[in-house]
Amino acid sequence: MSKKQFTPSKYPKTSIEGSVTWKAPSNIALVKYWGKKPVQLPANTSISFTLDACATTTTLYYKPLEKRSKEFEFKVMFEGERKKSFEPKIKKFFENVDGYFLFLKEYEFTIETSNSFPHSSGIASSASGMSALSLCLMSMEKELQPDMTDDFFRRKASFIARLGSGSACRSIEGPMMLWGENEDIKGSTPEYAINYPHKLDDVFKTFQDTILLVDKGEKEVSSTVGHDLMHYHPFAKKRFKQAEKNIAALKSILKKGDLKGFIRLVESEALTLHAMMMTSLPYFILMKPNTLSIINKIWEFRAATKLHLCFTLDAGANVHLLYPENEKEQVLEFIKSELVQYCENQHYICDQVGKGAVKL
Ligand code: DP6
Repeated sequence: MSKKQFTPSKYPKTSIEGSVTWKAPSNIALVKYWGKKPVQLPANTSISFTLDACATTTTLYYKPLEKRSKEFEFKVMFEGERKKSFEPKIKKFFENVDGYFLFLKEYEFTIETSNSFPHSSGIASSASGMSALSLCLMSMEKELQPDMTDDFFRRKASFIARLGSGSACRSIEGPMMLWGENEDIKGSTPEYAINYPHKLDDVFKTFQDTILLVDKGEKEVSSTVGHDLMHYHPFAKKRFKQAEKNIAALKSILKKGDLKGFIRLVESEALTLHAMMMTSLPYFILMKPNTLSIINKIWEFRAATKLHLCFTLDAGANVHLLYPENEKEQVLEFIKSELVQYCENQHYICDQVGKGAVKL
């Protein structure tokens, strides 16, 4: 159904020239997406906080070609320099979304992109990057088709971003996005992410995420390989069911501002994600000794202070510390005195829940 609604037949306008810039944030999943079906459809529903400071800014320059080309004509500039190593990924993305835009082979593109976070920080830029680029393409399409509604624009932007990188579809709006079909959530779909439609207690609207950079290296195992290992995984079916249950359980936690319930669920999700990696074939461990030291310190801190600090993890060693804004002072003090020692070059990034992508 979505495929059809997102396939244009003809644009009222032709031949435009110019540029458009979007800044799109990263996001951090609370219930994790791990495992997918063709084409880039999630094996289970996931839910995420949209971030604010960690973002990618992309400018798309477009100029009509004299005649339709057989290939995609584009180059990628990253932080001021041509970045040929990014181009195969963008080519693949263009191939994936070509059916949903009529103009990709009719223009010459320059894609200029930069991240707010350091390149080698171990923070994946695929979510923010693919989301920013998808929004740029959508702005172009809106120029060609001016009667497009904002609602359609956002839904299709998320749909297109998903085809670039699954988690990117959750980087369009904020503060919380849901992607996947969950029977308790009306309007939820595996095709694109929606803004979380149920009540969110105020405490979650300003939640803090401090990212401890434990290992700034390139990912040892790409998410694509990791997702694939869920196909033959002995615990996959149970895991996918558990994720749907967790999505349903979050509903009352988020509504009531139940921080204890939130902590239990979020930490369990993070450890389950890593448990899936450890029990796949081939198996792998992406946590580092410092990741575990941090987790233990968090548990000690929580027991001693009764504050609501918890952690989550992505497919890597870095630790996301999640906590309410009114506990910020004590938590930052704790990070500085106890946790920075476990970070590479003492690096960490302070972020918080954000409102979504913006056109600049
Ligand atoms: C562990 O979205 O990076 O961060 O769809 O293959 O691009 P692809 O994977 P990706 O996977 C993210 C996995 C995760 C969990 C999550 O963000 O939900």
